[in-house]
Amino acid sequence: MPIWLRRRKPDLQEAMDAPDCPPDWLANTYRDFAQVNQRVSGWERIFHRHIRPVLSEPHRTYTLLDIGFGGGDIPLLLHNLAARCGVQLRIHAIDPDPRALAYVASRRWPDTIEFSCATPASLLAAAARYDVVISNHVLHHLPDAEVAAMMRDAGCLARRRVCFNDLARSDWAWILFGLGTAGRFPRSYIRSDGLRSIQRAFTQKELQQLVPAGWLVHRTFPFHLLAVGP
Ligand SMILES: C[S@@+](CC[C@H](N)C(=O)[O-])C[C@H]1O[C@@H](n2cnc3c(N)ncnc32)[C@H](O)[C@@H]1O
Repeated sequence: MPIWLRRRKPDLQEAMDAPDCPPDWLANTYRDFAQVNQRVSGWERIFHRHIRPVLSEPHRTYTLLDIGFGGGDIPLLLHNLAARCGVQLRIHAIDPDPRALAYVASRRWPDTIEFSCATPASLLAAAARYDVVISNHVLHHLPDAEVAAMMRDAGCLARRRVCFNDLARSDWAWILFGLGTAGRFPRSYIRSDGLRSIQRAFTQKELQQLVPAGWLVHRTFPFHLLAVGP
């Protein structure tokens, strides 16, 4: 239970969300997400424990939706993990920020990954469905009123599994992230926004109160929460 960060600070703004932030800093931030995710986000473990078991029928092509793709490294990692297991996976990655779409459009991706600026609500309205719906480090970005709605929409879009991975608010997470990133990630918002994100993030108890009925919120290492539904 955090002591100094006992209360969430949802009003703290992240610099990358400012529409007029310098484009090179934002591009460096998208690029650097991959390094941070590789060290702390735990998607290899999540894939094998929660996603792979629901993609078990041979000779099928499965679909996965990633909400809030940022720099696009998580869909690429999932593509690679699935390919290594012989699972055919088509990935649709969405982000409402056109700057994120411009960033990924300037890079090469496997044909099985498609990026767009759609929203979960617009996909639902178009009757889209996916076998698996995921997101990484997005929930804490949302205004409070949108958190439960986002998870509800994700639950409706998913046929088999939803995995929402996010930071857990904790004093130690803030201290260790601050120490571990000091002097690193120049001209990037990774450190400053990361520290704000930890203050905006939920505790396990807070998130468990927001998830739809039947979902479970796990505490995972290091300093993360994984909401799994349905
Ligand atoms: C901290 S970044 C995480 C990016 C990526 N998922 C990762 O883990 O590296 C948060 C992302 O969420 C996106 N985002 C913000 N509001 C959103 C919303 N309402 N729906 C979906 N994505 C959103 C932002 O544009 C940004 O790309």
